[in-house]
Amino acid sequence: MSTDPIYQRYSLAHGIIREAGALALGYFNRLESLTVKSKGVQDLVSEADLQTELLIRRRIAEAYPEDAFFGEETGATGIEGARGIWVVDPIDGTQPFLSGQSSWCVSIAFLHDGELQFGLVFNPKDDELFAGGLQAPATLNGKPIRPLDGSRLTDGVVSVGYNNRIAPDDLLAVMGRLLKAGGMFQRNGSGALCLSYVACGRLLGYVECHINSWDCLGAIAVIRAAGGRTNDFLAKEGLLKGNPVIAAGPNVYEAVAALLR
Ligand code: IPD
Ligand code: CA
Ligand code: CA
Repeated sequence: MSTDPIYQRYSLAHGIIREAGALALGYFNRLESLTVKSKGVQDLVSEADLQTELLIRRRIAEAYPEDAFFGEETGATGIEGARGIWVVDPIDGTQPFLSGQSSWCVSIAFLHDGELQFGLVFNPKDDELFAGGLQAPATLNGKPIRPLDGSRLTDGVVSVGYNNRIAPDDLLAVMGRLLKAGGMFQRNGSGALCLSYVACGRLLGYVECHINSWDCLGAIAVIRAAGGRTNDFLAKEGLLKGNPVIAAGPNVYEAVAALLR
């Protein structure tokens, strides 16, 4: 077994994400008894989100008390001056989760000295675990994955993320460019999952005008490990404030990136 401290964290994260996924799935299986609150327009949260994040945070703190944590539900802990930072979305795709649809997942990413090291995205309903990093190949349930080879927007489906932080006209401009180029779009309510589908070639690419780091860093690590391309998401204040996200196979990346211009 490797004694590399980052690889050890990667191994630990596999167990944590499966345990967290099982907890979230338990809530999903008794949706009718969940307490749901609104965080804003089209922005719901339930006790499943909070409890799942608390479990992940506890497991990380037990093993690596020196590491910082940044999660959607509990915010940042110990970030200042920390070398290791875990970035977590306990349930990405809360809307589909609360609507009884299966397109939701747990996302975990790890940064060291500001560099994205590895990421994991787990969809408990489909029992699919995407993982990969700088020192680990990209895999889906342990098998190697890679993005599509296509070079044109007509060579596959592009997932276009949308949320209420973006003006409708900005989304319409992206959609206009995609459709006029003969492309096709998809959105399933989970940015992390759609980005993971880019890593394994189910989707051609993914764009969203603004997304938060907890939504996308896990999948970005997998895409890069799979040989795909993404924008420099951590540029400026990407970690704490989010950024646009662009992801695609290397041959079609520029065409997908042009959708946001
Ligand atoms: C959202 C989903 C959605 C994306 C939004 C995210 P949540 O996360 O990933 O697909 O378009 O930007 O905020 O609220 O389901 O965790
Ligand atoms: Ca999310
Ligand atoms: Ca979430």
